[in-house]
Amino acid sequence: MRQKTDTPSEQLSVIGRRKFINTAALAGLTVGVAACTDKPAGPAAAASPASAAGHGSSNGVHLKPGELDTYYGLWSGGHTGDMRVLGMPSGREIHRIPCFVPDALVGWGVTNESKAVMGTKADGSLRYTVADTHHTHASYKDGNYDGRYAWINDKINSRLARIRLDYFVCDKITQLPNVQGFHGIFPDKRDPVDPAINYTTRVFCGAEFAVPLPNNAGIEDGSKYRSLFTCVDAETMEVRWQVLIDGNCDLTATSFDGKLAATNQYNVEMGVKYEDMMSAERDACLFFNIARIEEAVKAGKFKTIGSSKVPVVDGTHEGNKDPKTALTAYVSVPKNPHGVNASPDQKYFICAGKLSPTATVIELAKMLNWFDGKLEKLDDAIVAEVEIGLGPLHTAFDGRGNAYTTLFLDSQVVKWNVEAAIKFHAGDKSAKYVVDRLDVHYQPGHINASQSETIAADGKYLAVGCKFSKDRFLPVGPLHPENEQLIDISGDKMVLLADHPVRGEPHDFIIFKRDLVKPKQVYSLDDFPLAVKDAKDSGVFRNGKKVTVKITSQAPAFSLREFKLRKGDEVTLILTNLDKIEDLTHGFAIPNYNVNFIVNPLETKSVTFIADQPGVFWCYCTHFCHALHLEMRTRMIVEA
Ligand code: CUA
Ligand code: CA
Repeated sequence: MRQKTDTPSEQLSVIGRRKFINTAALAGLTVGVAACTDKPAGPAAAASPASAAGHGSSNGVHLKPGELDTYYGLWSGGHTGDMRVLGMPSGREIHRIPCFVPDALVGWGVTNESKAVMGTKADGSLRYTVADTHHTHASYKDGNYDGRYAWINDKINSRLARIRLDYFVCDKITQLPNVQGFHGIFPDKRDPVDPAINYTTRVFCGAEFAVPLPNNAGIEDGSKYRSLFTCVDAETMEVRWQVLIDGNCDLTATSFDGKLAATNQYNVEMGVKYEDMMSAERDACLFFNIARIEEAVKAGKFKTIGSSKVPVVDGTHEGNKDPKTALTAYVSVPKNPHGVNASPDQKYFICAGKLSPTATVIELAKMLNWFDGKLEKLDDAIVAEVEIGLGPLHTAFDGRGNAYTTLFLDSQVVKWNVEAAIKFHAGDKSAKYVVDRLDVHYQPGHINASQSETIAADGKYLAVGCKFSKDRFLPVGPLHPENEQLIDISGDKMVLLADHPVRGEPHDFIIFKRDLVKPKQVYSLDDFPLAVKDAKDSGVFRNGKKVTVKITSQAPAFSLREFKLRKGDEVTLILTNLDKIEDLTHGFAIPNYNVNFIVNPLETKSVTFIADQPGVFWCYCTHFCHALHLEMRTRMIVEA
């Protein structure tokens, strides 16, 4: 792929041109009320299009001290394996939620509770310590987020994690059977059949890499490898069913009526080598008829693979020739498409072309007609296929009929009007569907707008995940941060508002109004079966070599000032934080024992270890809690 290699002087000339274009375009616009406070500071801004553009923005990004953001942003952390929580529009990182990999701040992967979520081997050690998160989406009700859950994928080990949005913690992780390269996820938005279920009950997962099925059979013959589309139950997090397909999966989208899910396919060739994956001129957007798939499962029309008990239905071309019974439909899309996104007017799925400079608009009503046998040619569901620029990847929406697609190769965001594109495609060559273009810095991947894929898309802010930041931040050695850029989309022209450096390597993200979640700051003691509910219940409880140590914390002291163990004891230490004041978190570290974790207000956690080193170990509070924080310690004495 071509990358921008412009010299600084070339960049400047481009900037000069852009500045001119932006300024000229802005002349006819209402200059925003908050324009002055939006002006980026510093000498770099003076030469940047952002400064010219800043004057045209009515959406501010600079909050006064103490002022809260109006949106939450949930960002996938990439191969740091976590989820990030950003406040928007400020772009401030507020929190990181550990999911798939250990986290030293909270003791994720150290405590027994987190290890149980993460999964362990027979010896109690973590099954995996690496992950690669890409996509994050949240649960829906009536077409908008309902603040219950978010999900995030691990591409490396094919795992799906769920985040509780009341406590912003990961509470369940499921490993998908029979697949590799689990990439796209999307929750459904309501049930396809039962109108009473107007909320998310399924999460769909697309597997990118084809493998032998089962994976230890037929290793050599790549033409026999297959990929599967997976449905996970949103509540139990158990795998409900899988669909065996031709080609591969990538990103995932779901319809607002619950009836359809789709994945874009870049490898209909089922090539095992890079060159083979690009040999076909058209790949596909593969649709799934959810109600029919579940009927087939109910009717026992499935098989299982290897040791997995998950029902697998046949979604191949061969098994789905009759539209009236088909579980799947392969709509053709130009060469190696990338993201598939559902428009907030509930009418279309849009595939970005990646190796083709086009976006393909597929009308969902026509897809349902095809499944009913009322649309003769499947590809007639394509209502637009228009050129938008080089390297289109992902699309966001403003709720006013416009789509915003990242152009990786052009380093731009293109704003285009979907209905105008449909008119143009139908033959009206006077229909101007491209509304605006904006340079971003640089090589954008994911994009999302505030409330984009909900019925409440509000068209205010657009965030763009730029994969390269190059010269936008102070140099810190060879590893550059990524650049999450924020754009004001409230007017006709896009206005670049801010750059935010982020540690590698976020991919997808969602941005939603802050009142859609109701976070809790204090736990309930009853949430934890092991809770030590009263300081008087503390102590050392011995059963042979198995020892349970129960401790409570209340600033600035632990309930036990010391506790004694014998060398070789298998110790389970349970700590309940009896402080019930918001923001009063304690830590618990044991020197030389590789133990540290925190307990939030009224939270209980436990660790298990062998007391294999005799001596005196000052267990101390690691999380600043009180003026006497340093004095908050307890003496662990291990007798030889
Ligand atoms: Cu308790 Cu610091
Ligand atoms: Ca291909």
